[in-house]
Parts: sequence; C-alpha cells; structure tokens
Amino acid sequence: MAGGADPLSGLNDAQRRAAEAVTGPVAIIAGAGTGKTTTITHRIANQVRAEAFEAASVLAVTFTEKAAGELKRRLAQLGVEGIEARTFHASALKQLGTLWPRHTGHDLPEILNAKAQILNPIANGLPGAYRFLPRRELAGEIEWAKNRLVNPAGYLEAIEAEGRTPPLPADLMQRTFQAYERTKGDRRMDFEDMLLMLVRLLDDEPEAASLVRERFHAFTVDEYQDVNPLQQALLDRWIGGRDELCVVGDDYQTIYTFTGASPSHLLTFPDRYPHAAVVRLEENYRSSPQVLTVANALSRAMGG
Ligand SMILES: Nc1ncnc2c1ncn2[C@@H]1O[C@H](COP(=O)(O)OP(=O)(O)OP(=O)(O)O)[C@@H](O)[C@H]1O
Ligand SMILES: [Mg+2]
Repeated sequence: MAGGADPLSGLNDAQRRAAEAVTGPVAIIAGAGTGKTTTITHRIANQVRAEAFEAASVLAVTFTEKAAGELKRRLAQLGVEGIEARTFHASALKQLGTLWPRHTGHDLPEILNAKAQILNPIANGLPGAYRFLPRRELAGEIEWAKNRLVNPAGYLEAIEAEGRTPPLPADLMQRTFQAYERTKGDRRMDFEDMLLMLVRLLDDEPEAASLVRERFHAFTVDEYQDVNPLQQALLDRWIGGRDELCVVGDDYQTIYTFTGASPSHLLTFPDRYPHAAVVRLEENYRSSPQVLTVANALSRAMGG
C-alpha cells in the first residue's frame, strides 16, 4: 500500500484498537452504524500496510454481492488493491471451478438457480391439499436443513432436536427432501451444494485443502451474525486451524435466521478463540443525527 492514506486516521479509539490488531483472532461486536465495515476495511488496509499479510493472501467474505462490491470500493479508496472480497458462494464457486475438475476428474455440475424447477413435479404428487403449498416453503425447508448440514436421512432427528414445525407432516417433508435430492442428481448443484461440495472436497483431499490454505492466510467476515452452520463449516476448512480470522457483527441484527444463522457464532467466538481480541464499538455515527433531530424536536415541543 505504498503511499496510501494512513489506515488508522479518522478512526475512534475502539475502531483503532481493532484495526491495530493486525494478527490473531479478532471479534468486533457492535450495533448498526457504528462503523463496523469501516473498521474492517481499515484493519485490512493496516494488515497490508504493516506487512503482516500480502494483499493477495487476504480473503474478505460477505453475504451479498453488494456488500462485497462496497468492501472492495472502500479498500480501493484506502489505496489497497488485490484483496479478494467475495460472498461465500462466489468464493466457493471460484475454488470449485479449479479444484473440482482437478480432484474428481469431472466437470463442475451445472448450477441450479431455482429449486422450484425440481420441486414442482414432486409437490404436484403430494396428497390432498399439500400439493397447493407454495414451492417457496418447501424450498425454504430444504434450505434450512442443508444450511445446517442436515441430509434427508438426518432430517427427522434435526427437526425434533430443534423443536421445529415443518410446512408438511415431518415424514412427508423428509420424503420430499429425499425426492428433491434424487431428482437433482449429481449433475446439478443448488446454492447449498456449492458450499457443501467444497467442504467435502477440502475434507477428503488434503492437497486441495493445502492449496486453498496456501492461497489465503487471513480472513475477515463482515456481518458475521448472519453466518449459518454450513458457511461456518466452510470458513473452518479455509482457516484450517489457524488463527487469522477477524469477524464483525451485530448480535441484534441477524436477518438470516431462516437459513440457520444465529448470533451464537458471533457470541461464542471468544470461547472458540480464547485469546481473541474482542472490541466493542459503541459510538453510532448513523443514527445519532436522527436521534438528535428527534430530541431537538421534542425539546421544542415541550417548550425547552
Ligand atoms: N470514526 C468515524 N468517524 C466518523 N464517521 C465514521 C467513523 N466510523 C464510521 N463512520 C461513518 O459512519 C457511517 C457508517 O459506517 P459503516 O458503514 O462502516 O458502519 P456499519 O456499522 O458497518 O453499518 P451497518 O450496520 O449498516 O453495516 C459511515 O458513513 C461512516 O463513514
Ligand atoms: Mg456494515
């Protein structure tokens, strides 16, 4: 990052502490608008600036393409180029693109963009009024299971353990899930398969795992409260027992609960990494002007 702006300038004390911790596990826990994304971009810039890591060996993971683009844009503003900022799915797809053919000898299966295509004929064969159930509900239930690494055989046990009510009677839902997987076959992959296949490949092929681990040395996850067990499993494979993970999240704002996300991954981070630096960001930059406006209006209304 030759000649770029000082990555620590403009940060408040807590943000600076996080950005200065260029190695080792770091958990940043904070509410909306407290500068979480700002902090991780400055930390990544500082990791490169302090020569703790080369830009090309840093992987920043997000949940949406938009967030990945935003991260890249902010890094570019800080003068850092060459960082991989991608969604879990885009990262997985890129890695599978080379590793899958090399290690399995097969082409990568075709991407299945919508489950409804496969679910329609299966749902049409359901008894009684069940066949009118929105396909989205069936797809959602299958996604819930797959995002928790639950296959059709383990489905009944999983919903019982979670006290979960499926959209169909449990045994019927299990058969629907089974039929979905069977019909999809090996030549198509849905979005969860993309992550699952990479998790399995990295488990089964030590050489593939080494390649990925040699490529990436430091990991950062924005909006980590949204991570689900499948994504966490992949992240664990990428990290491979190393310590170089920085997560940032808001324990109040999980929006992906339906996919199995839970802030517990965020909140248990210090248990999993007992020597993690934990930083709380308290200052809210976004809503304070609004809060001030309301407070001012109130005070005027009350003759203050
Ligand atoms: N130390 C700071 N000084 C001044 N402004 C700041 C500081 N940190 C962050 N901001 C500003 O606050 C706003 C929110 O920052 P940012 O997007 O990083 O927050 P966030 O916590 O990631 O928000 P969200 O919850 O929406 O993801 C931005 O406009 C950013 O420039
Ligand atoms: Mg953010």
